[in-house]
Amino acid sequence: MDSEVRKPITGVEMLKETRIGFIGGGNMAEAIIKGLLAGGVPASNIMTAEPSAERRELLRETYGVSVCLNNEEVVLPCPVLIMAVKPQVCGDVLKGIASGNAQGKLIVSIMAGVKTGYIEAALNGGVRVVRVMPNTPALVLEAASAISPGSLATADDVALVRSIFELLGTTCEVEEKLLDAVTGLSGSGPAYVFTFIEALSDAGVKNGLPRNVASMLAAQTVLGSAKMVLETGDHPAVLRERVTSPGGTTIAGLHVLENEGLRGTIMTAVDAATNRSKELGEK
Ligand SMILES: NC(=O)c1ccc[n+]([C@@H]2O[C@H](COP(=O)([O-])OP(=O)(O)OC[C@H]3O[C@@H](n4cnc5c(N)ncnc54)[C@H](OP(=O)(O)O)[C@@H]3O)[C@@H](O)[C@H]2O)c1
Repeated sequence: MDSEVRKPITGVEMLKETRIGFIGGGNMAEAIIKGLLAGGVPASNIMTAEPSAERRELLRETYGVSVCLNNEEVVLPCPVLIMAVKPQVCGDVLKGIASGNAQGKLIVSIMAGVKTGYIEAALNGGVRVVRVMPNTPALVLEAASAISPGSLATADDVALVRSIFELLGTTCEVEEKLLDAVTGLSGSGPAYVFTFIEALSDAGVKNGLPRNVASMLAAQTVLGSAKMVLETGDHPAVLRERVTSPGGTTIAGLHVLENEGLRGTIMTAVDAATNRSKELGEK
């Protein structure tokens, strides 16, 4: 299967008819809930099981979704379950779900490193699993999410999951074995980009700009450049060439980036994060 990028938004109508249950009501669950509500899914179709009373109260008060303490209360009525707990507790959470009650459900897992086969086996088969690796910009509905179906998931399941995550940003479908590379690139990527923005901002301050002006210019430069890549579809090198005039300021700056090995450093960083994701997945 080739990696394929699809633009938002499709299949939202299908979602509005579906009861969606969250196992774990933390940050990512909250981001997905926000996206679902913004996409017109009624709050009455969203249920969340969450151990923290404070979180349950926040989700109920802020978003009007149903909340409960026991995972089973969400599993029973919801044909689509989003596993949004930390990978470390995943084994215990799956053990706590009676496999009979999970039969025939679509399990959507956003848990980093947890393989679809592991979830299928933990629930004694009979569940369709789709894995998704979103990233932190989901919190502002600008996520990049990669989706991989498990062995029993159907094309309709994948379409439904895409329509959920397209409400949070942009999606693509990849083979499960590529999810470690996705984790190394877009999963960890926001941290690299925050570092880049901070460095640009520091450089602006060093050269006399007030911090707030430097940070705004740095962040907007990254946002605008990213939009140009996505909207033109041009290779980044073509866009770079267009703003690099002979004997100008940009080529002087680019020369330093090449001498200092920025490109190789970024590639090595993504390699390291990808390898770490593989290591954690094996555990
Ligand atoms: N954050 C990201 O950018 C990102 C990106 C891609 C994937 N993910 C994945 O998304 C998942 C959730 O991450 P997050 O950042 O949202 O973490 P989080 O904020 O810690 O949310 C996890 C929630 O699950 C709850 N929980 C713990 N044990 C539970 C149980 N037995 N049953 C039900 N709920 C339980 C936690 O409650 P307590 O706090 O009370 O323990 C917490 O509210 C992780 O698997 C992570 O790998 C996150």
